[in-house]
Amino acid sequence: MSETQSTYNYKVVRQFSIMAVVWGIVGMLVGVIIASQLVWPELNFAPFLTYGRLRPLHTNAVIFAFGGCALMGTSYYVVQRTCHTRLFAGGLAAFTFWGWQLVILLAALSLPMGFTTAKEYAELEWPIDILITLVWVSYAVVFFGTIAIRKVSHIYVANWFYGAFIIAVALLHVVNSAEIPVTLTKSYSAYAGVQDAMVQWWYGHNAVGFFLTAGFLGMMYYFVPKQAGRPVYSYRLSVVHFWALIFTYMWAGPHHLHYTALPDWTQSVGMVFSLILLAPSWGGMINGIMTLSGAWNKLRDDPILKFLITSLSFYGMSTFEGPMMSVKSVNALSHYTDWTVGHVHSGALGWVAMVSIGSIYYMIPRLFGQKEMYSTKLVTAHFWIATIGVVLYIASMWIAGVMQGLMWRAVNPDGTLTYSFVEAVKASYPFWTIRLVGGIMFLSGMVLMFFNVLKTIAGNKAVDAPVLAPAAHHA
Ligand code: HEM
Ligand code: HEM
Repeated sequence: MSETQSTYNYKVVRQFSIMAVVWGIVGMLVGVIIASQLVWPELNFAPFLTYGRLRPLHTNAVIFAFGGCALMGTSYYVVQRTCHTRLFAGGLAAFTFWGWQLVILLAALSLPMGFTTAKEYAELEWPIDILITLVWVSYAVVFFGTIAIRKVSHIYVANWFYGAFIIAVALLHVVNSAEIPVTLTKSYSAYAGVQDAMVQWWYGHNAVGFFLTAGFLGMMYYFVPKQAGRPVYSYRLSVVHFWALIFTYMWAGPHHLHYTALPDWTQSVGMVFSLILLAPSWGGMINGIMTLSGAWNKLRDDPILKFLITSLSFYGMSTFEGPMMSVKSVNALSHYTDWTVGHVHSGALGWVAMVSIGSIYYMIPRLFGQKEMYSTKLVTAHFWIATIGVVLYIASMWIAGVMQGLMWRAVNPDGTLTYSFVEAVKASYPFWTIRLVGGIMFLSGMVLMFFNVLKTIAGNKAVDAPVLAPAAHHA
């Protein structure tokens, strides 16, 4: 075995992990800016800084830049360690890093300039879509290539989830982004009318299911057992969890289109599959949390475990809330209100961000030859600031959302509306202010993390761990 083949390729993991923290700060800063714009509309003073342009910048930055880097970084770490082999095609892996950063840069320029396809979470114009496809196919080659050259026969369940995430996202992206270019910066969707809406929300909901969920479950299945020092609670449950989850997610998209021109039976199918989705979601959460059984005491003073286990609690909450919101009569109240925004962030901040933060705290010291982070106290501080921030964010949005829904539908005995729309807007201000405070807290936690990461790296050399012998049991 040559020298380089005898160590893991940690370089690309280090790059993605550090950029996840950087893009986390950038994306959440944009989140704080748009949250401020809702409180102080005067902040919309320049065309490229208006709410309409910054909102998609926020969603793209947090989902694809922060979430994407965290997913690629952790998946490269996990697949090498669990397959006991160095990453396949190192050059291609480097391309996935630099290519993805280019995609992010192009998004950061083109969205504020106003170039958009107007499809939510798929706003980027066609030349960037092509670059995304190239990077994604390369990512798939590196990931599945590594699985193919594995030195252990078993494919650990975390890799199943990462693999499903990679394949599904490729499919979603290619189908939903089919478009007819008109100029370099303008294209039209290949679909029209209600078909376009249906394809878009088949994409949109599976972006939640595969980008914001399946990949992060891969993280859960590796980092929770590692940090807890215990095997996964039930391997059998993890297999059932996997197949049930990926089968069910695919059908739930129409719950985003209740009471629209979409045929009513399609909406009902979406609702029923969303209700079924509660079961695999909770099966996964229980499998993660119960991995701690017999080691609950570790939760007391291990802030990384606190991040991981709290993220699972938020996962459980948002996957209970989602099926409820997909019930047509509940959706009639929640749709268009801040309730949806609260639901989104209990998943996005509570689940996606927290599980990523915990996993990155686990990896960083190991990528630089250290046993632990520079300051565990700072990790604990981060945990509490982040948790209080999420709670402020989602609780204020729940109250605002239900209030908005009730105000919009209130009618006087003579059939006229009790409130004008503006009255509902005015009543929302206090809650938007509380959300801003929660967002600033969450962002501050990320800045603490950045400082802690820099201090952990400073003065230490990047270290690539030796590849474990095939016989070794612990990855
Ligand atoms: C069992 C799981 C889930 C179900 C059934 C579900 C269901 C729903 C429903 C019914 C809506 C509202 C649609 C509307 O009225 O427009 C929604 C919105 C949303 N959910 Fe979930 N949800 C689930 C889990 C999650 C998780 C874990 C996340 C994040 C990590 C998430 C992210 C979102 C996003 C981003 C939206 C807003 C989409 C948009 O309108 O832009 N969901 N979900
Ligand atoms: C400091 C943290 C954050 C703040 C202050 C923040 C703030 C906001 C605001 C103000 C909106 C617009 C809501 C509206 O239109 O009424 C929004 C939307 C959104 N944010 Fe965040 N956000 C943060 C973190 C995140 C993270 C980490 C993610 C994902 C991983 C995320 C995903 C989203 C999504 C998907 C939407 C669109 C929701 C929808 O269309 O219903 N956010 N955010």
